[in-house]
Amino acid sequence: MPLLRIENVDKYYGSKGNITKALNHVSFEVEKGEFLGIMGSSGSGKTTLLNAIATIHRVTAGHIYLEGADITQLKNKELAKFRMEKLGFVFQDFNLLDNFTLEENIGLALTIKGVPKEAVYNKVITAAEQLGIRDALSKMPSEVSGGQRQRCACARAIINKPSLLLADEPTGALDSHSAQMLLESFKSLNRDRAATILMVTHDVFSASYCSRILFLKDGMIFTEIRRGDKTRREFFQEILDVVTLMGGKDSHDN
Ligand SMILES: Nc1ncnc2c1ncn2[C@@H]1O[C@H](COP(=O)(O)OP(=O)(O)OP(=O)(O)O)[C@@H](O)[C@H]1O
Ligand SMILES: [Mg+2]
Repeated sequence: MPLLRIENVDKYYGSKGNITKALNHVSFEVEKGEFLGIMGSSGSGKTTLLNAIATIHRVTAGHIYLEGADITQLKNKELAKFRMEKLGFVFQDFNLLDNFTLEENIGLALTIKGVPKEAVYNKVITAAEQLGIRDALSKMPSEVSGGQRQRCACARAIINKPSLLLADEPTGALDSHSAQMLLESFKSLNRDRAATILMVTHDVFSASYCSRILFLKDGMIFTEIRRGDKTRREFFQEILDVVTLMGGKDSHDN
């Protein structure tokens, strides 16, 4: 059984006369332990897809099964449990709490769960070190750079060792060194903990870390490619070729 099965998912925004079909009959499966990249130009439905899987948005039609259970049918309490226990999420806009330090932001989910202070602290330190933001832990989000905020959001998402990590452009605001550190920590989470990762990215280098890439276009799956036995460099070139085929550079590329 696949870890995740997306079945004929539609997501429409708006109402009569002004409808955007953000996802249009999307179906695919993700095996446990896959590191799946999701690419596609701005507005192609990537965030919408991730939000649907994270149960942040209800789908208009279709079903999403996690370990065989239909998460589109979960009710409040089960939803909260699913998000708390299984899911790590890095939002496109980071979503940090402004009035909490980075340390508090990263440890929040564990604190809420009632994990003892010292255990939370140790886990926060480990995650922060992994992402190179240990020195910034006592600062507020407004006092650090965009890249540090993004790494804080990633540390918060991985601290729980989620079995499913959803990341919406986690490397978007990072310099190449920080991006590489982040990708390496995703890779080890994926390899050592068999975490399944879905990562939206516009960046071909980041995408080359994935084991498979799904390309979205106008809310539909355009194509998919697998890394297989290819080297990262070969896969990079292949991704670049598809991106070019689909219409070349989009607004997010610099
Ligand atoms: N809350 C909303 N209300 C109405 N339309 C929306 C809403 N959110 C997204 N859309 C529309 O749905 C489509 C898909 O948006 P989505 O945010 O999923 O794209 P994306 O692929 O994540 O783009 P980007 O790369 O710019 O983040 C777009 O046409 C967008 O304008
Ligand atoms: Mg988006």
